[in-house]
Amino acid sequence: MLKQEIKNLIEKTIGKKAVVEVPDNFSYGDFSTNIAIKEKLNPQEIADKLKTSPLFEKVEVVNGFINFFLRPEYFLENLKQILKQKEKYGSSQIGKGKTIVIDYSAPNIAKPFGIGHLRSTIIGQAIYNLYKFSGYKTIGDNHLGDWGTQFGKLIFQIELKIKNEKLKINELTIGDLEKLYVEFHKEAETDPALNDEARAWFKKLENGDKKAKEIWHACKEISLKEFDRIYNLLGIKIDNTLGESFYLDKMPEIFEEMKKKNLTKQSEGAWVVEFENNILPSLVLIKSDGATTYFLRDLATIKYRLKKWNPSIIAYEVGVDQSLHFKQLFETIKMLGWAKDVRFEHIVHGLMRSKTGKFSTRRGDTVHLEDVLQEAIDKAKEIINNSETDKNLPEKEKNELAQQIGIGAVKYNDLSQHHSRDIVFDWDKILNLKGNSGPYLQYAYARTQSVLEKSGLSPNKIFKILDNNFITIVTKALPQENIILKKLLHFSEIVEQATKTFSPNLICNYIFDLSQSFNLFYNEVSILKADTKEQKEFRLALTFAVGQVIKNSLTLLGIESPNKM
Ligand code: ARG
Repeated sequence: MLKQEIKNLIEKTIGKKAVVEVPDNFSYGDFSTNIAIKEKLNPQEIADKLKTSPLFEKVEVVNGFINFFLRPEYFLENLKQILKQKEKYGSSQIGKGKTIVIDYSAPNIAKPFGIGHLRSTIIGQAIYNLYKFSGYKTIGDNHLGDWGTQFGKLIFQIELKIKNEKLKINELTIGDLEKLYVEFHKEAETDPALNDEARAWFKKLENGDKKAKEIWHACKEISLKEFDRIYNLLGIKIDNTLGESFYLDKMPEIFEEMKKKNLTKQSEGAWVVEFENNILPSLVLIKSDGATTYFLRDLATIKYRLKKWNPSIIAYEVGVDQSLHFKQLFETIKMLGWAKDVRFEHIVHGLMRSKTGKFSTRRGDTVHLEDVLQEAIDKAKEIINNSETDKNLPEKEKNELAQQIGIGAVKYNDLSQHHSRDIVFDWDKILNLKGNSGPYLQYAYARTQSVLEKSGLSPNKIFKILDNNFITIVTKALPQENIILKKLLHFSEIVEQATKTFSPNLICNYIFDLSQSFNLFYNEVSILKADTKEQKEFRLALTFAVGQVIKNSLTLLGIESPNKM
């Protein structure tokens, strides 16, 4: 990449580590460095030495910064690369030979698929896509919450209903499960002995009791069906769904290893883990009644992943409320000495709030994700019905389009800010065709496609035409064209940065910015009615390139790019 090339060049010239950046404003060059300021060197002297490189048209010094302006050949070459590589443009082999396991989505059985899980699903999938695009072997793992003491409560409650009210398990719905769970907690408030009953049931479940397993299995089926509907709506498929229960028979071995390495000790009947100098609070590994914990299951999960996939990164996309859990987990891995050169990362997500502070939906108080997604689709349909979109579009296609726009809008809203931040769910902003939203970008893409369609020229044809003679046109490009050429050049770096820092929002910022530049170009410059044939072809190439880069970006974000809007 050019940025790296320039960095190497500077470092070779002055023998010191340099940071190269892309200035916010291209009047300060395509790249810039503060090396002279940092190292207290004479910037002009360095600039004079670097000027001789064939990379640059000019090298300027402004306030101690050294600014580099690339030769126009590089912009033309990049444009050609976009036309040639198409959907592969921006991809790389940075991760070649390396594997990343991404733990995301992970909803809990017998509970509704919550907003937090939605965030995890959307962000996790985008990160998965980024790593794949960068050449990593990617393993997505949906660590379903399908084990734990809460099932004791549920099984107890269901078993009671089967006995007393002739409830049939195969008639249970996800709504019932939710209700039963709430009921249990209410009743346990007045009758705490119920908690012991629940614990006993979980114990039975862990020991493989037939009845307990049967009820648990039914709960799991019901939930999975519900979750699948949501994954379908979101257009998401996760490689593996192993879930916590998968590790049941893998826990004893871990417990033994913890004991052998003196990393756990008994305290009031339970087995606990303490950290040296109390750098972190201690925690329970095995409860006093012998029940396993979420923590122990996570340890077993790591061991399994290390053995099975030999990853260099294991990343968890999980809410900020589990920060302590992951700190303890990663510290324990260190104490176990399992994976010295594996990077563990907790990619936190913040809360999602509604504009009024609380989420509410048509069904009432609790937020049902499916309702939220359906509402997005309905609202998108309204937009389609009110727009100039082909009025004759068949209903089926309209519905498909509404789904692509509605779901895309929800995803973009989630991804366009840094994942660690709380985000606000505001329909007006999410679906705003004029602001930084999914539909705005999809609209910009559709616009590029409609121009290309009208031109009658295929991308392959444009690619063939676009030879080195075009350098004169590139040299004389209008400011509206120049800015696009410059922005397009930085896509690969943005992808690299977004991947390295687990930040899909960088991709969002970038395409929003690119789309704005394109819209300006579209409004102020005639593409199809350009003065000369070459000019028209050049502008079509730019249009194609912008469309391709928006599409590649939206694909990374898990958002569709409809050709028409
Ligand atoms: N099911 C958990 C929850 O909803 C998230 C699981 C995250 N992954 C993990 N390996 N702990 O809170």
